Amino acid sequence: MSEHRGIFSSRMGFILTAAGSAVGLGNIWRFPYLAGENGGAAFLFIYLICVFTLCVPVMIGEIAIGRRAGTDAYGSYKKLGGGKWGYLGLFGIAVGIFILSYYNVVAGWAFGYFLEISFGNLLNHQNFGAFFGEYVTNSGTILLFSLGFMVMTAVIVGQGIAAGIEAANKIMMPALYVILIALIIYSLTLPNAMEGLKFYLVPDVGKINTQTIFDGLRQAFFSLSLGMGTLMTYGSYMRKDQNIISSAATISIADTSVAFLAGLMIFPLVFSEGVEPTQGPPLVFIVLPQIFHSMGPILGRFIGGSFFLLLCFAALTSTISLLEVPVAYLVDQKKFSRKRVSWGVALLIFAIGLLSMLSMGQVDFLTKLSFYQDRDFLTFVSDMCDISLTVGGTMMCLFIRYRWKIHNMDEEVALGANGYLQSATRKYLDVTISWICPILLGIMSILIILDKFIGLKVLFGWG
Ligand code: PHE
Repeated sequence: MSEHRGIFSSRMGFILTAAGSAVGLGNIWRFPYLAGENGGAAFLFIYLICVFTLCVPVMIGEIAIGRRAGTDAYGSYKKLGGGKWGYLGLFGIAVGIFILSYYNVVAGWAFGYFLEISFGNLLNHQNFGAFFGEYVTNSGTILLFSLGFMVMTAVIVGQGIAAGIEAANKIMMPALYVILIALIIYSLTLPNAMEGLKFYLVPDVGKINTQTIFDGLRQAFFSLSLGMGTLMTYGSYMRKDQNIISSAATISIADTSVAFLAGLMIFPLVFSEGVEPTQGPPLVFIVLPQIFHSMGPILGRFIGGSFFLLLCFAALTSTISLLEVPVAYLVDQKKFSRKRVSWGVALLIFAIGLLSMLSMGQVDFLTKLSFYQDRDFLTFVSDMCDISLTVGGTMMCLFIRYRWKIHNMDEEVALGANGYLQSATRKYLDVTISWICPILLGIMSILIILDKFIGLKVLFGWG
């Protein structure tokens, strides 16, 4: 069966590809602005706790399910759990479709910035905030770039696992680290950089509130690509002799280190330019051009262009993993040809993404959703997807505990991990998956939903 579906050609192939899914706009675009809105170091602290206590176990569980079942997210739940559990897989597939719909729009912005910095006159502008505001309302341009992005995604997914997805990741991931580190060194030399470092690295416990905790948790799930079947699907292409635990640890460390480095690059810059860290989604699009501008026209173009190009690559390895989830479902369950479905699904998702694309001021009712505190459609879909990821993670733990059973997960994890069954790691994992994760994730998911729609302040007087 595996020959027919394709399998990662090497151990590194799986790790790099899964890390490629994890590392993306979530790390470089979203992590810094959420950290900026939530007090910097306080957010980093909560984020790290969420990653290493709740998310790594969920990741191991998700990969184990996928590898045992050897099929897509729907098929995996159905095969291991029977009838109705398949719906949980379908839920994840639907969430992936919506994430990709808006993610692709932001990727279009990044692609546009790559072109505008390398070949256009973006760096000649004075006010990068105003430039960004106008740029994203430029429907024709964004439409073209997002479409281009979706086409690249479809081409690679259409090629299948080893040839397309694995090969693309092997080059892009290391290059991203190199350029990030170079930019960190540069930004640390700027005046006032230390203020930024302090904001980002010295936690002020007083700044931790429910918002910090909710944002830290949802960002951890989003950034690690958890809760919707991406890693389950990738796990289904993983060799049986590969160690799931060390793979999950490597993927989490790779992902977290990119987010951490992105913060280390951005905050010295934010403080040296005197920009407010609470800008929200535009943050990196405003602050980064400033640093490239300060490097002078030639170097700025070169470094700025390379940076946004790599950001596009990072985004591409994530869009690939998002598209792979519904495509694997249609290929495995409905026996469609991989190439055809890749194109079909990509276009459908692109069409859904138009709603997010036009919510930046072009179409009034999409820009100010009356039922969602007058926020824009992109924020709405992104919030709903985030909630669905933590709900998906909670349900997955319940699935393992009550349906598939912990000992089956342990058996799968033990393949490729000598001594696992007798180890303390196993005890830890068993407890987290049966108790800690479902309880904490379940409670937080409910609170996040209440907070988004009613407001915890209104309900309980806190928040
Ligand atoms: N983890 C990706 C990022 O950080 C986004 C993603 C979410 C990809 C969910 C797949 C599944 O950009």
